Parts: sequence; structure tokens; C-alpha cells
Amino acid sequence: MQLQDILYSQGFGTRRVCAGLIQRGLVQLFDSETGIFQVCMNSVMDLKPEGIKFRVLEETWVYQSRAYVMLHKPSGTECSQKPSTYPSVYTLLPMPLRQRPCKSAIQGVQAVGRLDQDTTGLLLLSDDGQFIHRMSSPKKHVPKLYEVGTKHPVSSVQIDRLLEGVVLDDDPIAVKAAACVQTSDHGLSLTLTEGKYHQVKRMLAAVGNRVETLHRSRIGNLALPIGLAPGQWKWLDDDDLAALTS
Ligand code: URA
Repeated sequence: MQLQDILYSQGFGTRRVCAGLIQRGLVQLFDSETGIFQVCMNSVMDLKPEGIKFRVLEETWVYQSRAYVMLHKPSGTECSQKPSTYPSVYTLLPMPLRQRPCKSAIQGVQAVGRLDQDTTGLLLLSDDGQFIHRMSSPKKHVPKLYEVGTKHPVSSVQIDRLLEGVVLDDDPIAVKAAACVQTSDHGLSLTLTEGKYHQVKRMLAAVGNRVETLHRSRIGNLALPIGLAPGQWKWLDDDDLAALTS
């Protein structure tokens, strides 16, 4: 694969822009033998893309044929590309992830489902349409763990009702928590396998309580790492991807 095509595939701009970056000496390739980055000005140099590490201006990048990332979504951000009130979560990602060329009309990675603007925690993003579908499809029942802070004290009656199933206003079919554990007077851990609109908030309202804080800490067996601060993102490695489906 030509170096300019590698850069293009990773979201560094059009092929012409990428060729220009290389020819202007702004791209460095990592040489694993010497352990140093070296300028490469040959835009049509043929390389095996897998495992290639390069630097474009200040951005160091390792080639990934598909992008799978997690973001620690902070409060006060919207999961939409065109947010109405708060900044978009996409502004927290580096430009190449937002510009990766895709076959679909929309460029860049897309969020797997959405979290409300005031919800924090684990958000997955990818440019792999099948992965996004697999992870967000209600039929796949991927469990998602939410840490809920409530306005009123949690009661055992509320927990029983969340486990037995509650009817949400416009929806005739009852939804139930796959698991529900009280963690404090005003806190519970709730596991859901569906992803209906405002589901946690509506379920808590249906049992006479109210969500004050909401944090998603786990999807499948993939937990938000303690070291990933709000607003930070990281690539998913093979273990992370396996944890999502195991
Ligand atoms: N349920 C909600 O009510 N809000 C979220 O952001 C996620 C699940």
C-alpha cells in the first residue's frame, strides 16, 4: 500500500492532502531497528500497512484497518455529530478518527448507541458498521451496567419492581432489569440488555424514584478502566474486543 494511501485510510485528509504532507517532509516513519522516527518524502513508497507507526506533524499514529475505541464520556456532552446545546463527544477525539474515510456517506467513527448529555461513562465508537450494529442491536442483548444515584432512598419494593418489569409510558411491553443491586441508600447498579430511549431514567421514574446521576461502567465484560479520565479515549485491544462479546 502506498504511504499516501495509508495516511488517507487513517483519516489524515484526502489522498492529495496526504501526498502533500509527505512531500513537504511532515511525515516520519518509525524504524523499529533504530527505534527512531525518520522523515519519508516518498508519497508512493510501498509498505505493508499492518503495524506501521508514523508521525504526522505532532500526531503519532499506529495503522489500524478498523477503528474501535472507547471514550470516557464526561457530563455536559452530546453524542450527536450536530449537538443542539452541549459540545459533541466527537470533539474529544483526534481529527483522524473523525475524518476516517468510510463507504457510507458519514465519515469517521460513529458512537455505538447514545448516552444522555448528563450521563457519564463508557461509550464505544467505531467505523465498523457491522460491529456497531452487533453491539447496539436490541436482539443481541449485550448487557450494560449502569451506576445510578437516586433522589429518594432506594427501597426493596423498587428493586423488586425493576427486576419484575415496569411499563414505560408509550410502550406496552414491560422492560425489566437483568440485574439490580442496591449499592447505598441512594444508589444502585442496574444491568440492562436493551437500549430504549432514556431507559434508566424512565424505569426509575416508573417505580417512583428519580435519577440524579447516571454512569455507565461496563458493556458486556468490558469495564471502563479506572485510569481513563473523563474526556479521555483509548483504542480497544484484542482483549477488550473479546470482553465485549464473551
Ligand atoms: N438510560 C438513560 O436514561 N440515559 C442514558 O444515558 C442511558 C441509559
